[in-house]
Amino acid sequence: MMNSPPALPAGFTSRPLRESDHLPVIAAVGEWWGTPQAPELGLLLPRLFFQHFTVLSEVVEVTNEGSGPHLAAFLIAFHSATHPDRVYIHFVGVDPQWRGRGIAAGLYERLFSAARGIGCTRVDAITSPANRGSQAFHEALGFTTHGDQQIEGVTAYADYDGPGHARVALMRTLD
Ligand SMILES: CC(C)(COP(=O)(O)OP(=O)(O)OC[C@H]1O[C@@H](n2cnc3c(N)ncnc32)[C@H](O)[C@@H]1OP(=O)(O)O)[C@@H](O)C(=O)NCCC(=O)NCCS
Repeated sequence: MMNSPPALPAGFTSRPLRESDHLPVIAAVGEWWGTPQAPELGLLLPRLFFQHFTVLSEVVEVTNEGSGPHLAAFLIAFHSATHPDRVYIHFVGVDPQWRGRGIAAGLYERLFSAARGIGCTRVDAITSPANRGSQAFHEALGFTTHGDQQIEGVTAYADYDGPGHARVALMRTLD
């Protein structure tokens, strides 16, 4: 029997991504990562994702007493136009104050369920060799890593996203 996706913690709700989420997400990435490469991360999220890749993408919002819904997490994923059996996860992020509560796991489980519903059997993603947290998270969600050499102590592909931009490839099959 298939497990149902984990429920969101109290006070949190999820909904499909929409175009108006673009600027709040860009702002959140800068704030949540809090690193000098944050503007570069924002460039990985051009508006086109919020226009043309919303079907499988989702945001999680939190409603605090006395304030409207506020962005807590987001997932940008899409059905591969090249491989109809695959879904690709482009980006996931959770507000640091809400991490460790199963919010990203819930986003992924709902995506897996939607992906199964459209006949997909595989989910792909990538991360950087230095992002050990992302690697651990994906491992916990059943992903395996692949690459062709050891980079910074992990299996990765050198120059995957351009010169000097090694990436760990992540893959999970869907039963
Ligand atoms: C990675 C990230 C999305 C995880 O979000 P989260 O909501 O805290 O994750 P969850 O609480 O759903 O964790 C799910 C599982 O992953 C594990 N996990 C999550 N983050 C982890 C970390 N940094 N180190 C080790 N394990 C981690 C949890 O322990 C949990 O495992 P369990 O089910 O065995 O208990 C979040 O830390 C984040 O936004 N990081 C910065 C952005 C990023 O690196 N994104 C991925 C690359 S684009």
